Amino acid sequence: MSQKITVIRGDGIGPEIMDATIHVLDAMGLGLTYEEADAGLAALEKHGELLPAATLESIQRNKVALKSPLTTPVGEGFSSINVALRRHFDLYANVRPAKSYPNTLARFPGEVDLITVRENTEGAYIGEGQELSEDGATATLLQKVTRKGSERIVRYAFELARSTGRKKVTVVHKANILKTTSGLFLKVAREVAAEYPEIECSEMIVDNACMQLVMRPEQFEILVTTNLFGDIISDLCAGLIGGLGLTPGANIGHDVAIFEAVHGTAPDIAGQGKANPGALLLGAAQMLDHMGMPEQGERLRQAMVATLDAKDSLTADLGGTGSTMDYARAIASRL
Ligand code: NAI
Repeated sequence: MSQKITVIRGDGIGPEIMDATIHVLDAMGLGLTYEEADAGLAALEKHGELLPAATLESIQRNKVALKSPLTTPVGEGFSSINVALRRHFDLYANVRPAKSYPNTLARFPGEVDLITVRENTEGAYIGEGQELSEDGATATLLQKVTRKGSERIVRYAFELARSTGRKKVTVVHKANILKTTSGLFLKVAREVAAEYPEIECSEMIVDNACMQLVMRPEQFEILVTTNLFGDIISDLCAGLIGGLGLTPGANIGHDVAIFEAVHGTAPDIAGQGKANPGALLLGAAQMLDHMGMPEQGERLRQAMVATLDAKDSLTADLGGTGSTMDYARAIASRL
């Protein structure tokens, strides 16, 4: 059966890494078809707006999108397109796997294999209630945590543990100090965890979690946490495995899911064929898992590991001299 996905080629290195990723997906022979849609600077130039309605309609129709990084122009009147997409489709789960691969700058080769599940819609990032006093000397910020928001993200984490055969979920919080917001999150997490007796639930205060991640990352399988902590922890985890070039991310809602690389548009190397398509390729593997093809997602990851192992056509950031497309071809040849 042919499945259609929305493809957003994005800005900067976006089109290059998307071409490489589609080359690999096509080589897998899955019968995927693609509907191209514009967003970011490319859309602004073509359609006069950063996130055209036609793009939203395409994503809504296909339910699954693969997205390259986008430029949000600096300046007033432009709010983040990524945030707009999350809000529009209520993409409440930000899911970031971090796994150490061979021949990378991973700090703990072979030891890190964890997934951060970050609540994506509330917490400190609601953008409401931010105030700076008239004299500019006092700033306040409102945080919002709800039972509904906490329950669905913790449930997502436990269901992910079940579906991936992982045995442990760590709830990361700061309920000792943030007694209302983090306290509610922890309370709800305990209730949800009780429904999954076969999965160990551990609790960890966020500062300790950061230290433990750096000292003994192998103890973690899935971490689930609120928006701000998840934002920081997932980048810490990206650092553990050698940087953002190997970190994919999924934004998942009940209806729609968008898969991407976590890095930006890398304007310094755009158009030169130097970009590493690895993070977007891993995002495509996550997408295949989500589309009910986990064995194909694993096939893609294995081909990438084999290519890294052989140091075949690696891009400059991995110490090689291969181009973006050389690297994609090397992966495709190992599928
Ligand atoms: P960046 O991630 O684009 O670049 C940081 C450094 O990492 C640069 O030296 C770049 O060359 C390198 N790099 C990034 N991805 C790479 C890849 N795949 N292969 C090899 N090297 C890579 O971060 P920066 O410079 O802060 O942001 C640039 C633009 O990207 C900004 O306009 C920002 O708004 C946008 N951005 C978009 C995101 C998205 O759409 N998801 C996420 C982050 C930033």
